[in-house]
Amino acid sequence: MSAALTIDDLKRQARSRVPRMFFDYADSGSWTEQTYRENESDFARIRFRQRVAVDLENRSLASTMVGQPVAMPVAIAPAAIGGLQIADGEIKAARAAEKFGIPYILSMMSICSIEDVAEASRKPFWFQIYTLRDKAFMERLVDRAKAASCSALILTMDLQILGQRHADIRNNMKAPPKITPRFLAEVMRKPRWALGMLGAKRRTFANLVGHATGVSDLSSLSTWIAEQFDLRVTWDEVRWLRRRFDGPLIVKGILDVDDARRAIEAGADAVVVSNHGGRQLDGAPSTIRVLPEIVDAVGGKTEVLIDGGIRSGQDVLKALALGAKGTLIGRPMLYGLGAGGEAGVTRALQIINKEMDVTMALMGERDAKNVGAHNIYSNELLKRQGY
Ligand code: GLV
Repeated sequence: MSAALTIDDLKRQARSRVPRMFFDYADSGSWTEQTYRENESDFARIRFRQRVAVDLENRSLASTMVGQPVAMPVAIAPAAIGGLQIADGEIKAARAAEKFGIPYILSMMSICSIEDVAEASRKPFWFQIYTLRDKAFMERLVDRAKAASCSALILTMDLQILGQRHADIRNNMKAPPKITPRFLAEVMRKPRWALGMLGAKRRTFANLVGHATGVSDLSSLSTWIAEQFDLRVTWDEVRWLRRRFDGPLIVKGILDVDDARRAIEAGADAVVVSNHGGRQLDGAPSTIRVLPEIVDAVGGKTEVLIDGGIRSGQDVLKALALGAKGTLIGRPMLYGLGAGGEAGVTRALQIINKEMDVTMALMGERDAKNVGAHNIYSNELLKRQGY
């Protein structure tokens, strides 16, 4: 793990350490994975403007996200089953984020519970929630997040129905896994993972099992989502949450200008431009491609954050240049967890931080807060290049 120089290095290490079922869950997108691939490849089409003869002393990556100070404008994205990439994964990732000085966003579909993470952290983290049919349970989740002093709430709007991910179906992905001869054979090849899991605090969805009425086993994620997620979701859900939570409310899963406007009218303080890491509507555009139009529409009034395809500090800078106030990283964190737990996530954050710092200096900027359209070739030029 110590040899990892790039997020890709961490990905390779995670692949060799995490049972295939869980590595694939983190790694795949839906259907043909076109959107997943374009999330990454569209970043690669943006070109930095190089400026020289600039004072490069006292550089700073510090900024704010939803009014909270961050060491760099990167938060850990909510990602399900972190605690199956490695034992107690969410606790480990939260600790790494806290020590680095960036926000950790706990997924509702985590293995460790809100309370587990609160107990293991000293600073507030953020909590992500889906809209469920059982509003009383949702209300209890919000109350638990408040009791745990969560300092922001994220409502994910793009997963009421699960996009089809072929790998999960082929691997018969379950949490906890079904102990089949095939799974046992796989685990024998991943002994460190198995040993850790023997001592893990939790092995299934601790926010849900024993808390949601009638839920004692939700090993099949897709069945649970089909039964519990509310298909009649409207913007009223945002209003409903707005009334129940005083802190920053962030709506995630926005890919359309009108949706961004509506989320804000309904009371969101920020939106996350997201296609769920290419895991939902395959064939939708990459997030970096639609970011500028969403920033144009609502960026003056509110913070626009982005996730999807961010694999380096350079990608973070490109997002800032196109108007994002901050970024969320999902897979880089999951690869870090699989590669080396807390130290692996710390490594992922160090990699991104160093790439940001050096790139910013080579662009001739000293402060991440000043990164903007002047740091990249113009949108017009990019358009002519087919971007
Ligand atoms: C859950 O958020 C998933 O993408 O599987």
